[in-house]
Amino acid sequence: MGTALPPALPVAEGLALGEKRFADLAQLYAALHGDSAPRPGFSDRIVPGRGPEHAALFLLGEQPGDREDRAGQAFVGPAGRLLEQCMRDAALDPAALFLTNAVKRFKFEPRGKRRIHQRPNAGDVAHYRWWLGQEIRIVQPRVVVALGVTALHALIGARLPLKNVRGRVRGWDERTLLATIHPSYLLRLRPDGGYEEERAAFVLDLRRGPGRRPSSADHQSAGRIWDAKPQPRSALSSARAMRPAASPMP
Ligand code: URA
Repeated sequence: MGTALPPALPVAEGLALGEKRFADLAQLYAALHGDSAPRPGFSDRIVPGRGPEHAALFLLGEQPGDREDRAGQAFVGPAGRLLEQCMRDAALDPAALFLTNAVKRFKFEPRGKRRIHQRPNAGDVAHYRWWLGQEIRIVQPRVVVALGVTALHALIGARLPLKNVRGRVRGWDERTLLATIHPSYLLRLRPDGGYEEERAAFVLDLRRGPGRRPSSADHQSAGRIWDAKPQPRSALSSARAMRPAASPMP
């Protein structure tokens, strides 16, 4: 890890990045399996992150989906496949990345034989935040990429409209943080609904994250975003208006 950066985006309370409790990820996940009772509406299975124990890049999603819950591995369903293609297009080596989720279990509503994804709420995110902090502490990434607003919320402790922060690297803890869309957002776009443009912008974001350290301008603008909180409702609703109506962007 490089030189410490001044704080820009805050570290969410409860992330406990400095608290050394586990020697490695195997210990951490064993404890998570044993200690953390599922909240109502969640699968009883924990889905651990995947990738090397120490990785320069840490990609954070929202929560495992149905496929991930069945496979016991993060990002192995359609969103994960698309993410891997985009990472390749961004010239990132998937073998050098750690992929995990803010929430460690699949939240769903049973509908017949199907399990319909439910977005985790602030309490769900807070419930798993300490564990996420332990994961980051062990993996020691240089760059953390938040895929979508729930991941960003888990890291900084607030739901910022993604358009305010997307695609610019920021100082965060002693690392850098990049927020971008979640790949499942792309899966919901039609070819004639801007899919190619959005996909290209996502690939560009992924290229930027690992390649550039935050400048002092990034720190200043991160400060401005943060000072502006709480976000006016109009900002929140215009961010929502950018999302497809059928299912919210995680
Ligand atoms: N979406 C996520 O956020 N994480 C996964 O593991 C799969 C889909």
